[in-house]
Order: sequence, then structure tokens, then C-alpha cells
Amino acid sequence: MGTSRGRFISFEGIDGAGKSTQHAWMIEHLRQQGRRVVATREPGGTPLGEKLRALLLTDSMHLETEALLMFAARREHIAQVIEPALARGEWVVCDRFADASFAYQGGGRGLSWKKLEELAHWVMGDLQPDLTLIFDAPVAVAQQRLHAATAQPDRFEQEQAGFFERVRSAYLRIASENPGRVRIIDATQTPTVINKVLENIVASL
Ligand code: TYD
Repeated sequence: MGTSRGRFISFEGIDGAGKSTQHAWMIEHLRQQGRRVVATREPGGTPLGEKLRALLLTDSMHLETEALLMFAARREHIAQVIEPALARGEWVVCDRFADASFAYQGGGRGLSWKKLEELAHWVMGDLQPDLTLIFDAPVAVAQQRLHAATAQPDRFEQEQAGFFERVRSAYLRIASENPGRVRIIDATQTPTVINKVLENIVASL
């Protein structure tokens, strides 16, 4: 009997929404349930991807270069980490995936949705997360949390509120267009309440 394929969960949201805290909680939760879990992130997740991440978070570049590098790192990540782990029956829990490119490069920076769809088709083929959790909070709330927690904001975190409003709207659009895959999590709730919500959602995956 072959190993059954694992599950792929991605975590999304504007900077400061609290997604990384919940990502860490989810990994712990799944491991306690006896699942084999690969904890990973984008941009990054491979040695080459982490080098690209360092460039993406610090160096200014043309918008399309930014999108291409995000997808280049993703291509490597899928080939080296995500697909092999899923094939081994492991659960991949990823802090950001392709929706972030649509939200940030598309919504935030204004790159055409069509170009992003072409890149996604090229790089991902049929691969999509089984579940995407979008942590949603008003931009003012997220910015306050971000400023309290981050001493040295990166290139994205330095963007103005209007940028994050556009990113947030794009995430909400993605959620409404993909109701089977995407769940919106109200990130203004307490961490303990959010844990319970996530526990219920993954129980049925
Ligand atoms: P983030 O998860 O916020 O890292 P950290 O919590 O360590 O600050 O990711 C870094 C930034 O990368 C984030 O501001 C969003 C941006 N990003 C994109 O613009 N496009 C993408 O495709 C991805 C994956 C991330």
C-alpha cells in the first residue's frame, strides 16, 4: 500500500496580523497529534530561496523583477521541499505562499492579475494549498502590532497604510473567489480564541 499524500496549509495576511504566531502554534498542534510536519516559509524555504529572500526584503527593484524573484524562490521551494514532503505523506505548513504574490505584487504594487496568473500556472501547475488561512485585521491594528514588535522594518513593512489597505483588499478578493480553499480568520480575536478556531478547521482536513 502506498503512502497517502500529505496536506498543504498556507498562512497569509498583511504584516502585523499575527500570522507567524499562529503558524508556530499550528506546527506544534499538528506534531502533538502525531503528524509529520514540515514547517517552512516564503520567500525562502530552501538555501537558494533564503538568499533570494534576503535580496527581496532589502534591495529595491523593478516590480516585475520582484514578482519574478518571488516565483523563482517558489519554484525551488516546490521542487526541493513541498512536493517531496507531500509525496512522503507529510504535512507542509507554510508561512505565506502564492496568494502573497497576488496580494502584495498584484494588490499592493499594481502588477496585473493576468501576469501573476501566468507565473502561477507556470511555476505551480496544479499545485494549490489544501487550506489557506488568511489572518485579517484592520490595517491600523496590524500597523500598531507591527511597530510594537519590529525594531528594523524590512522593505515591505516600511510601506504606508494605503499599500496595506490594497494588500488587504486583494486578500479578501482571493478569499471570496476561492471559498473551498480559503478561510478568513478574524485576527482581532485573542490568540487563544484563534487557536480554537484553527483547531476546528484542521480537524476536518
Ligand atoms: P513575512 O512572512 O512577513 O516575514 P516576517 O514575518 O519575517 O517579516 O514575509 C516577508 C514579506 O514578503 C512580507 O512583507 C510579504 C512579502 N511577500 C511578497 O510581497 N510576495 C510574496 O509572494 C511573498 C511570499 C511575500
